[in-house]
Amino acid sequence: MLLTLTPFVLASLLVVQSNAFTLRSWEDSYTLANAAIAQMTIDEKIGIVTGTGQLNSKRRCVGDTTPVPRLGIPSICFNDGPAGIRLTKGVTGFPSGINTASTFSRRLMRARGKALGEESRGKGIHVFLGPGLDIMRNPKSGRGWESFGPDPYMNGEGAFETITGVQSVGVQACAKHLIANNQEHWRYGLSANVDDRTLNEIYWYPFLRSIEAGVASVMCAYNRFNGTSSCQHAGLLGPKGLLQRDGFKGYVVSDWGATHDSASDNANGGLDMEQPGDYILIGGGLYGSGLKSAVNGGKVTTARLNEMVARILAPWYRLGQDSGYPPVNFDAQRPDGSGDRNLGVSVRSNAHTALAREIASASAVLLKNNRVTTTGTPSGTTIRGLPVAASRIKTIAVVGQDAKMPNLKCNDLNECNDGTMSIGWGSGSNSLEFIIPPIDAITSFVGTSATITSSLSNDLDAGVNAARGKDVAFVFVNAMSGELGFYTFVVGNQGDRNDLDLWWKGGSLVERVAAVCNNTIVIVHSVGPVRMSWQAHPNITGIIYAGAPGEQTGPSIVDVLYGKYNPSGRLPFSISDNEADYGTTIVYNSLGFPEIPYTEKLLLDYRYMESKNIVPRFEFGFGLSYTTFAYSSLSIAASGTSQVIKFTVANAGVFAGTEIPQVYLGYPASAGQPKKVLRGFEEVILGIGATSTVTITLNKRDLRHIAFGTLRASHGFDLREHLRSP
Ligand SMILES: *[C@@H]1O[C@H](CO)[C@@H](O)[C@H](O)[C@H]1NC(C)=O
Ligand SMILES: *[C@@H]1O[C@H](CO)[C@@H](O)[C@H](O)[C@H]1NC(C)=O
Ligand SMILES: *[C@@H]1O[C@H](CO)[C@@H](O)[C@H](O)[C@H]1NC(C)=O
Repeated sequence: MLLTLTPFVLASLLVVQSNAFTLRSWEDSYTLANAAIAQMTIDEKIGIVTGTGQLNSKRRCVGDTTPVPRLGIPSICFNDGPAGIRLTKGVTGFPSGINTASTFSRRLMRARGKALGEESRGKGIHVFLGPGLDIMRNPKSGRGWESFGPDPYMNGEGAFETITGVQSVGVQACAKHLIANNQEHWRYGLSANVDDRTLNEIYWYPFLRSIEAGVASVMCAYNRFNGTSSCQHAGLLGPKGLLQRDGFKGYVVSDWGATHDSASDNANGGLDMEQPGDYILIGGGLYGSGLKSAVNGGKVTTARLNEMVARILAPWYRLGQDSGYPPVNFDAQRPDGSGDRNLGVSVRSNAHTALAREIASASAVLLKNNRVTTTGTPSGTTIRGLPVAASRIKTIAVVGQDAKMPNLKCNDLNECNDGTMSIGWGSGSNSLEFIIPPIDAITSFVGTSATITSSLSNDLDAGVNAARGKDVAFVFVNAMSGELGFYTFVVGNQGDRNDLDLWWKGGSLVERVAAVCNNTIVIVHSVGPVRMSWQAHPNITGIIYAGAPGEQTGPSIVDVLYGKYNPSGRLPFSISDNEADYGTTIVYNSLGFPEIPYTEKLLLDYRYMESKNIVPRFEFGFGLSYTTFAYSSLSIAASGTSQVIKFTVANAGVFAGTEIPQVYLGYPASAGQPKKVLRGFEEVILGIGATSTVTITLNKRDLRHIAFGTLRASHGFDLREHLRSP
């Protein structure tokens, strides 16, 4: 969906609308849908199951359907994407999915989903195209940052909370991409070949949780699965496929152009709606041209066509979109806000800005902190390390192009990396209109209390000159990836990253600055793990992995650096210097679309590393705090078929803070299972000296090791306390 733009500024118009609606039961919703279908012509039905076309000048959203005005059914509006409303102005650039995972906070996952729902609704969007649930099978996978990382449990929780939040305000969510959409190279036809156990336990699990959240729709992927196009794979979508096995009641919509072969292959395979409706370079255009004749010729039954329409209309009734829903008030074909169909409606709010900032701070992971204080005790004032004491730090260097205002066209349309990296590129990117880069936020926070010398490029000598002898040097470095463009390489990377290196010689910049400043604080903005060979350098007193934090990147990092927000983020993946430590590869070179066997099976990320005794630089779940936490009174008790784990956490340090206890389930070797898997986490907010009793209950399904097989007994657990002295 690449469009040409002309800059245009339109005054914002604030509208206040009610998000209240009455949730109907699925049964009532299907009754209403079937009653409408009984009155429809075949052309009306086909208009509902088919996008109106990418090149259709009437199109308002990223995808639309044909309305049936006489029955009160509008054009259904579909719009990107997982981290904010794309291709329009007056929206919030929320943190990425991977940062949301980093919070390990269901509260924030749900709040983000609700805010995304509110902004969708305010724009008249019926279907929010998210959450992304593509497992980060390889750390370099181009769109990994849109989803919740390599762990299936984390993706499942992210899915459940996001969908619950989005749909709580009457907006349909769309879980994507079904299934095993794990790399950008060759994605339009590669085949991910996955055995049943791996499929169920890793790649399917987040979709199961989506169904449990009542998700309205699921998007089938570009790639083939086990040799068959995902959008016509009966084993996924058909009456006996996984979606139906687990009780999915909504509809399957194709990724844009992901349909191949014939209308009947797709309709009979289980695809309900084709988008965008016409052929777009790689596929599509089947339902509009061929579905009617397939039905008239008996290749697709009328019952199946009716079922497709019913599946699409039922969620629309269920979420009350048939009554009082705001009309579309923007034009995705003119994302600059121009044209008479862009009504200038802003859906931003102070609450959403504050939430974007809170999630960004809560997702920052403190990886290293060699704090030195005036008294030599934690309660002294910081001289080196974090949090920075404004009273003592009088000369500051800000180094790196990643600190400066980005070229706002990079993320979406131009696909480039120029300035701070706050979100990857492609259809999962954000409309960044109000981004505050780190340099602006630091400058405004510091005011006249210190002098700032900056070098806002990655020029090594300029960085050294700025940093030499300063009380502190903040070095901002980044790495980026995104969706495969049709033509574009971004700094030589085509969607997936080429390697785990920081971009623009960021590693050299860090090393050169650390050689001349003994209080060097490194802030990494990245879409995934990067090499950190400089980690142990004695002059690097702090490292913060800040991920892809969205538009509030600057204020959120100031809050963490200066101690207004005590870091509580935890890594949603492990960080290792060597790609081989992750046990998977990206297939870059192939003669034609490759077959990719998922031979690593269940062993992704920390599971693989643990099985091979690989010690990463920083493990999954790792993250420091400015305070310390003490655990006590651990007990486990059976309660019916569940296990109830109880313990006490106390804030034993001198800063208020949030601890994230994590429960990992261990198995005996005979289970043929990874040694440990994540099965629980909590967010525990504690004032200085405060204590809290935490209860984590693992139900029957959490305890079994084949998600859909027989229940096996649990074999113990591990409580990890990621505590290292600050
Ligand atoms: C995918 O292929 C594997 C290996 O041939 C097979 O075991 C599995 O059952 C297939 N899965 C589905 C859902 O067709
Ligand atoms: C760190 O560098 C500053 C400024 O150059 C200097 O005053 C200070 O003594 C150094 N501290 C240590 C521990 O090396
Ligand atoms: C640390 O920084 C100081 C300057 O403050 C410098 O003299 C020293 O060589 C640096 N140490 C290393 C290991 O680079």
